[in-house]
Amino acid sequence: LASIEVDVASLEPGMSLTVKWRGKPIFIRNRTPEEVKAAADVQLSDLKDPIARNANLPADAPATGADRSGGKDKENWIVMIGTCTHLGCVPLGQAGEYNGWFCPCHGSVYDTAGRIRKGPAPQNLAIPTFSFVSDTKIKIG
Ligand code: FES
Repeated sequence: LASIEVDVASLEPGMSLTVKWRGKPIFIRNRTPEEVKAAADVQLSDLKDPIARNANLPADAPATGADRSGGKDKENWIVMIGTCTHLGCVPLGQAGEYNGWFCPCHGSVYDTAGRIRKGPAPQNLAIPTFSFVSDTKIKIG
C-alpha cells in the first residue's frame, strides 16, 4: 500500500503540520522539551486509555510518552492519525486543557502525546506505521 515521505526539516520545536495519507489527516508535531516532559511525567494509571495504539509497537505496548512518540532519541516527534476516536472529527492542534489536541465536535481533550484525557473519545489517537528515513524525513505507511 502507498506510503509517503514527509520532509520535516522546517519544523522547529513547537511547530506542527498536517499531511494527507490514505485520505486521512496525519498530524506531525515537533514537541518542545517541556511538552515531552509533560507527557513523560504522566502516570499510566491516570490515563483513560493506557495502551500506546502505536502500529510500530506490540499491540499491548503502554501509552508512555516515549511509546507514543518517535521513540528513543526521537521522543520530540509525534506522528498520529488526526481522526478523533469518538466519531471521527478532526481535532484542533495546540489546543485544549493539555495544549495537545482538542476535538470541537464533542469536547474530547488529548494531551501532548495524543492521549485521550477528557471527553467521550475512548482511545488515544492512533499512530500509523512510520519510520525516519533520515533525520529530517519521515516515511508514513
Ligand atoms: Fe471528537 Fe466526538 S468526534 S469528541
